[in-house]
Order: sequence, then C-alpha cells, then structure tokens
Amino acid sequence: MPSTPRSPSADLSLPPVGFGTAALRGEHGVRTVAAALDAGYRLLDSAFNYENEGAVGAAVRASGVPRDEVIVTSKLPGRHHAHDAAVATIEESVYRTGLDHLDLYLIHWPNPSQDRYVEAWGALIEARERGLVRHIGVSNFLPEHVDRLVAETGVTPVVNQVELHPYFPQAEQRAADAARGIVTEAWSPLGRANSLLDEPVLTRIAADRGVTVAQVILAWHVGLGVLPLPKATSPDRQRQNLEAADLELSAEEMAAVAGLARPDGRNNDQDPAVYEEY
Ligand code: A2P
Repeated sequence: MPSTPRSPSADLSLPPVGFGTAALRGEHGVRTVAAALDAGYRLLDSAFNYENEGAVGAAVRASGVPRDEVIVTSKLPGRHHAHDAAVATIEESVYRTGLDHLDLYLIHWPNPSQDRYVEAWGALIEARERGLVRHIGVSNFLPEHVDRLVAETGVTPVVNQVELHPYFPQAEQRAADAARGIVTEAWSPLGRANSLLDEPVLTRIAADRGVTVAQVILAWHVGLGVLPLPKATSPDRQRQNLEAADLELSAEEMAAVAGLARPDGRNNDQDPAVYEEY
C-alpha cells in the first residue's frame, strides 16, 4: 500500500505526505498550519530561514492534536554551520516554536565551498543527545556529502529532503538514499505549481481517474517511495493533497509521468554541488 508509513528508525514513523510551510508566517501562517493539522497532516516542514518556526509552533500548541502525534521539522541555515553557532541556532529554533523539542532537524544545504557541514552535523548529534531534537537528517545533500558525514561521525541521517518533482525525478539520488537506509523527502513536489500542472500527460491521467493533477503528481511521489511536502493555503487543496496518498497509480501511469523528466529539470538551477544558501 502506498500509504504505509515508513520507519527509518525504530521510533520514527513517517506519514506518506507532509505539509510544506515556506512563506506561511504570522497570524495567516498560524491559521493555515492549524487548518493543515485539522485536515490530518502530521508532519510539518519548517526552517530557521523560513522565519516561521513561531507560527508553526503556535499552530501545534493551539491544536488539539497530541504533541507526540506531530512531527515538527526545522532546518539549520548555512550561516550557522560552525559548531557553537549551530548549537545556539538549534536552541533558538526550539525556543521559537514554544515546544520543548523538535522531532526532526535537518542541515538545510551542505554549502560545500564553506565545507563546515560535518562540523554542523556534530552539533545536530549533540542536540539529539540532549533531547532538543529527536531525529536528525539533511536536505540537499548529494551522496558524497552524506558519505562524509557517515565516515566522519558514524551517524547516518534519517531523511534527505531534496528538490523532486516529475520534471526532476532524482533517480540516482533516490537510489543512493535508499541504499543508505535514508528516506527521501521532496521539496517543491508540485514544481511550485509551474507549467507542470498543465502537462497533458498529467491532465489525462487526472481526468481518467477523476482526481486533480496535483493528486496525480503526489501519488507518483508516494508510488516512488518518496515523501512529498506540498504547501497549500486553502483547506480544499490541503485536503486533496493529503488524500493523494490513497491513490495508487498503475505501472503504466508511473511510466507516463516518468516521461516528463528533463536533464535540467530543476526549477531554479539550485544544484547542491555549487548552489549555496546562508
Ligand atoms: P497555494 O499555496 O496558493 O495553495 P510546491 O509545494 O511544489 O512548492 O507548490 C506550492 C504551490 O502549489 C503553491 O503555489 C500552492 O498554492 C500550489 N498548490 C498546492 N496544492 C495545489 C493543488 N492541489 N492544486 C493546485 N495548486 C496547488
């Protein structure tokens, strides 16, 4: 079943679809994230650089959902990879949510020219040992970056969150993550609602199935074993995106979606080998 939760470690069970929160800030952000929790989302994806850990935490605290049923994620920005700065930033992330811990904490980008991501990983390991964060992972890490973390610390990330949508399906990255026991999460799973949503291959499958194009795309992610993190503002879109996990595409439909792949399919040319974020 595509909706079976994956368990990268004994005490972390991930839902098939999570909720992206970039740009959801302030009171509007709190209301939107609260609606997502009401709709049934149990994995929320935030970041220090989204400047919305406060809104996400406020929504979680105000919701009637038991705290241990929600996986709250945040990420360490590139400007704070140095050990002491990373420790203070993780502490700040937790304070900003108003929660007593975060469930998943990721290094946002490897920033290879800065070359301090192994040092940052040491700080995440310490934060986990202190109970500030329950699980640790990475985002935008190429296999070579992951392998360095493991070689130098012996600790493997539980997830790797990367850009992944039908224009950019990341076959090699997915295989590399899977070989290391790492769950691949997808950012911009809908391609930021660009021309992807008008692709005839997708509109045809959607019409055949009586579902939306967004649901076809998200069902494709789930069918690949990837955990998509769509962001949606309206309750209707939030609900349809979550329900996509129940849609199982046929092998032919999966292959048809795979035909949309482009070698240069990234939305904004953000290749983690060279692109850096601070
Ligand atoms: P909105 O936030 O106004 O609901 P991604 O997750 O790939 O970054 O894409 C996010 C974009 O996709 C947002 O503009 C969002 O719009 C839009 N979006 C989210 N869900 C749907 C949907 N079910 N149908 C169409 N557009 C959607």
